[in-house]
Amino acid sequence: MSEKIAVIGAGTMGSGIAQIAVEAGFEVVIVDTDDAFIERGIGNIKKFIGKKVEKGKISREDHDAILKRLSGTTDMAAGVADAAMVVEAVFENLDLKKDIFGKLDSYCPADVILASNTSTMSISELAGATANSGRVIGTHYFSPVPLMKLVEIVVGDTTSGEIIEKTMELCKRFGKVPIAVKDVPGFIVNRYLCLMYNEAANMIYNSVAQAQDIDSALKLGCNWPMGVCQIMDMAGVDITYNALQSLYAMTGEERYKPSPLFQTMVSEKKLGQKTGEGFYKY
Ligand SMILES: NC(=O)c1ccc[n+]([C@@H]2O[C@H](COP(=O)([O-])OP(=O)(O)OC[C@H]3O[C@@H](n4cnc5c(N)ncnc54)[C@H](O)[C@@H]3O)[C@@H](O)[C@H]2O)c1
Repeated sequence: MSEKIAVIGAGTMGSGIAQIAVEAGFEVVIVDTDDAFIERGIGNIKKFIGKKVEKGKISREDHDAILKRLSGTTDMAAGVADAAMVVEAVFENLDLKKDIFGKLDSYCPADVILASNTSTMSISELAGATANSGRVIGTHYFSPVPLMKLVEIVVGDTTSGEIIEKTMELCKRFGKVPIAVKDVPGFIVNRYLCLMYNEAANMIYNSVAQAQDIDSALKLGCNWPMGVCQIMDMAGVDITYNALQSLYAMTGEERYKPSPLFQTMVSEKKLGQKTGEGFYKY
């Protein structure tokens, strides 16, 4: 296997994934549609790694060596050449992702792993956009990628055993803990968390309990490090609402039907920390 990883998309997740791979010793190329997006992504990585030098966590030599292994391009075919794995982290849009997987399938030799960081889409459906669907797999990272240990390894209907093994191995080398999961809506974490989000919102909507009390109860009674309403405010109430809507559409299960509270909060722009008010005021 080569020691090169290509990441498609230089946004929040793509730059985080590029960072953990380059810090783990791989050569990394980030592909995006505009040089400005690539500069922003690489700039974020530089900031993060620069702070590690300031804090004495890595040496200046290591810092320079890491950044020497990192580059970006708007030419996807050139960017993915000789990569062992390509990780797609573009916008959550099915047609866009299918188009990219079709292109990657034609640019990359048959043994190259094609991974998607999608949160909501079916890996089997993305694999359908390729001729060689055995090498398509999900690697679902969590934000902020450099800090969160988990990667859900999403196994599509056609993903080969060899690709699962190689992907797990690479994710471990990136310092992550990979957990294999079936290609079901929400995988494990979102499937579970969305139920918690919805229940909390319904309790507030039905005047059963207030956000602060729900959070205190979970922290003191279940040892949660954060309350569920605090998590929603941090992630964005609109993002939570979208995740529930998409799970409800995919499963048809009433338990995922978004609480009416979400629509009210979104229309009032109470989206959480980013708008100064959500379940709490900031
Ligand atoms: N943000 C999160 O917390 C989070 C967590 C887990 C998974 N995800 C998933 O990760 C993916 C990326 O999310 P994000 O938050 O990083 O998005 P983002 O909007 O921050 O970044 C997406 C990037 O993709 C680039 N892009 C768009 N079209 C492209 C193309 N054709 N070729 C190359 N680059 C292209 C954009 O220019 C942008 O820089 C999505 O599928 C999302 O669902 C996000």
